[in-house]
Amino acid sequence: MEVIISPDTETASGAAARVVARLVREKPNAVLGLATGSTPLKLYRKLIQLHNEEELDFSEVTTFNLDEYVGLEKEHPQSYHAFMWEHLFSQINIKPENVHIPDGMAKDIPVFCAAYERAIAEAGGIDLQVLGIGSDGHIGFNEPTSSFASRTRIKTLTQQTVQDNARFFDGDESQVPHHCITMGIGTIMDAKRCIMLAFGEEKAEAIAATVEGPVASMVPASILQHHPNAKVFIDNPAAAGLKLSDYYRWVYDGKPDWQRDA
Ligand code: PGA
Repeated sequence: MEVIISPDTETASGAAARVVARLVREKPNAVLGLATGSTPLKLYRKLIQLHNEEELDFSEVTTFNLDEYVGLEKEHPQSYHAFMWEHLFSQINIKPENVHIPDGMAKDIPVFCAAYERAIAEAGGIDLQVLGIGSDGHIGFNEPTSSFASRTRIKTLTQQTVQDNARFFDGDESQVPHHCITMGIGTIMDAKRCIMLAFGEEKAEAIAATVEGPVASMVPASILQHHPNAKVFIDNPAAAGLKLSDYYRWVYDGKPDWQRDA
């Protein structure tokens, strides 16, 4: 795992955006796995900026989102459909038919989940998966003790995640759905590359456990230690619990530019 510690979220998001942009330039029909939440917002803003100012072209890109709440219509303002169209898709030249987000209103959830897995495979697999991390170490909505072999399926959110996400529902926990459809950890691990972003001191413990702790299903993100190409972009507060932070900084500072964006 490569750990990139930036002084602020702007710099970290810019560095992550350059990795995504380079892939899209080198492989215009790249398949991107995307995430929601507060963390990737600046990354998406940078991608929109690169689209507007440097003609970064998404016309052949395909996307698969990690997760969606069960029971929310696509039009619901807190659905991840609404989030993605508001914060990214409406501002780049992606084709709507190339966008895939789990359907929280699917009538037969297991059938839908199997079809989602098939669609990823038929697209050639995910080239690069963007990830956030929950304060409990979840990736996607794979909560602690999720199987490392899991595929797209229905999951129940932990109370911690319901609490964390209540801020998107006017602080009202009772409005947060308790179920979601999420790519599994096995699905995420099949992505050719993963980039994880985490900002703020509330993520410091989860990041320390992910990067330097034992690989354990209690910290789902720790499985990334077994991924052959995973980068973790964090700010100083999220790095606060890392024992080897000086080493990670030293490694990154010594890299030639071409290797930083690779
Ligand atoms: P956040 O969520 O970006 O809103 O902190 C991250 C996550 O739960 O994966």
